[in-house]
Amino acid sequence: MAKQSTQYLGKNFIHFETIDSTQSHLKKLLQENKAPVGTLILADHQQTGKGTQGRTWFSLPKPQLMFSLLLKPKFPPQKLPMINILSGVLMASVFEEFGVYAKVKWPNDVYIDGKKVGGILSELYVHQNEPHIILGIGMNIDASSADFPNEIKATATALSLYCTNCDRMDILQRFLTKLEHALYTWSTDELIAFTQKEFERLWLYRNKSIEVSQENKTLRGTSSQIDPFGALQLKTSAGIEKIISGTVSAI
Ligand code: BTN
Repeated sequence: MAKQSTQYLGKNFIHFETIDSTQSHLKKLLQENKAPVGTLILADHQQTGKGTQGRTWFSLPKPQLMFSLLLKPKFPPQKLPMINILSGVLMASVFEEFGVYAKVKWPNDVYIDGKKVGGILSELYVHQNEPHIILGIGMNIDASSADFPNEIKATATALSLYCTNCDRMDILQRFLTKLEHALYTWSTDELIAFTQKEFERLWLYRNKSIEVSQENKTLRGTSSQIDPFGALQLKTSAGIEKIISGTVSAI
């Protein structure tokens, strides 16, 4: 990598022009014992990029930021959803450093101007009896609206539409520096307190009525907080509901 300011994350850095999915490739390396913790795989193009809920992650014509990182969390597996939320708030705070005000959409997305600019997919694997996370991050850094296919044109955006001097490697380095600081310098309690506070500040639906669609029910209410496990605390007419999964939209 051009400028190394992290000690662990990205020290083992593998860059592909084209690959099926950085996520699948890192999983393969982990299983083959070829990936030390902190390994980062970056791809300019993915043929079968993986999104959440079995979706695909579209590869734009120009190189963006699509990478997977191998992490070994020190905190208990129940608190792992916090990694997604932490990654989202850190992504938004890096964009803020360039004067671009992004918001986080619980649990995995980052939005600018109501459109998705980044997504997070974390997968938990037990390797040699120890939990490992493969954290997959997609950020649309450099694209025009014409670059997006029709299906996502209305809902997706890129940083370059708001920022003329945003360099992808600079953004990657800033993101890794913040993530490494959070994971290696702070205690679990500090990390959780930071993530909760930043979530409240950057939450897309702050002070708005929302709907949470789950497989067999839809809940309505307001929310501004997540609990220490990353669950959304929804204030409904029946009281506080703890939401661990679902799709949130404004009503
Ligand atoms: C989502 O919003 O659905 C999550 C998207 C995650 C996409 C990234 S791109 C790099 C990494 N490799 C993959 O195949 N997926 C993740």
